[in-house]
Amino acid sequence: MSSQLTRRDWLRASGLLTAGLSLSRFAPAEAASSTELTQTTFTNEFAFAAPPDTMPKLRARLFANENPLGISASAKEALVKAADVGNRYAWMEFGQLKQLIATDEGVKPTNIMMSPGSSDILMAAADHFAKNGGTILTSALTYDDLLQRAEKFGAKIKALPMTKDYTYDLAAIKASITPDVKMVYIVNPNNPTGTILPTAELEAFCREVAPKVPVFIDEAYIDFYEPADRPKLGKVVTDGLNVILARTFSKIHGFAGLRLGYAIAQPEMLKTLHAYTNGDFAVSITTLMAGIASYQDKDWQNHCRAENAKARTYTTKALTDLGYEVIPSSTNFILFPIRMKTKSFENQMYSQGIGIQTREFNGQPFCRVSVGTMDEMAIFIDGFKKVVG
Ligand SMILES: Cc1ncc(COP(=O)(O)O)c(C=O)c1O
Repeated sequence: MSSQLTRRDWLRASGLLTAGLSLSRFAPAEAASSTELTQTTFTNEFAFAAPPDTMPKLRARLFANENPLGISASAKEALVKAADVGNRYAWMEFGQLKQLIATDEGVKPTNIMMSPGSSDILMAAADHFAKNGGTILTSALTYDDLLQRAEKFGAKIKALPMTKDYTYDLAAIKASITPDVKMVYIVNPNNPTGTILPTAELEAFCREVAPKVPVFIDEAYIDFYEPADRPKLGKVVTDGLNVILARTFSKIHGFAGLRLGYAIAQPEMLKTLHAYTNGDFAVSITTLMAGIASYQDKDWQNHCRAENAKARTYTTKALTDLGYEVIPSSTNFILFPIRMKTKSFENQMYSQGIGIQTREFNGQPFCRVSVGTMDEMAIFIDGFKKVVG
């Protein structure tokens, strides 16, 4: 297996959970009760159908929610400059990037810890909050890297059904807070559903819940919000609440391979998490310098957001025209139910050089397709038509 394929993200990509949860419009309604998930329910259901050596030959790489446009020219220039200082430990650079982020978010640099991608922050939180057992409260259809890790280290996962619109049911989560709950895990926008929570509701939720139990909000896809609508939860952190925000440069900045992310939280919480990760010092000077350039390059971010929206609209319409019901997405991926077994679908797509992911939930097979370039999405739709006839 190639090193690419052995990456943890891929092998433990967010499998939908098989517990008995309702999928409303897409599957016969089943008991909408909360579900205690055991270790076995979190085994990954996703497996690549194609042999690894077909990966480089893909015509459309739509399985990992990457930025198909690459990194910005400004980030590339910074990478080249960074080569000249590659002999130096990064020191000033993470301070500089934290200052930029802090100013935007209305927090202090001491509220920020950098990391090599946000996965490190997720893993650190899982290790910490699971180590003495207890329960992590979340939603049934969500990204499960943190959950799998927490379960491995002793926590129970309680995954509540989503609302009929495939968003987190915040009221149900609030009602399920018990002394045993160690942390609430929310992904907003959510992976794999692509849905978002209304900002005011999420803020009110944090204000009510965080005084009782830490709230971890995984904002990996936050940059796909239009800037004016984007939740600014930094203020709940400056108000002293125990909320942890996890961010990544892997998506709109295109840094999935360069690895850059950060957490925004109370300084004491960052100190706690730092016991499980090297934090700031785990990030290379090259990545940091490129990150500083990319963070300030709003034109590039706007361009990527606009191109993503265009290709997403095209794909959604094409699938809808074919009679498929697509969950409205605010991200760089789309989830929709398919009418054949996942393995057979994967095989037929991969054999055409089209990489996607599939999920099986409640007996209903789904396709999760990342939003690539317009060309890639045209290849996807064309290939999909051939498969479904
Ligand atoms: C919801 C969510 N959180 C976190 C991550 C981890 O991203 P990274 O470690 O590249 O920052 C991903 C990756 O796809 C994701 O989908």
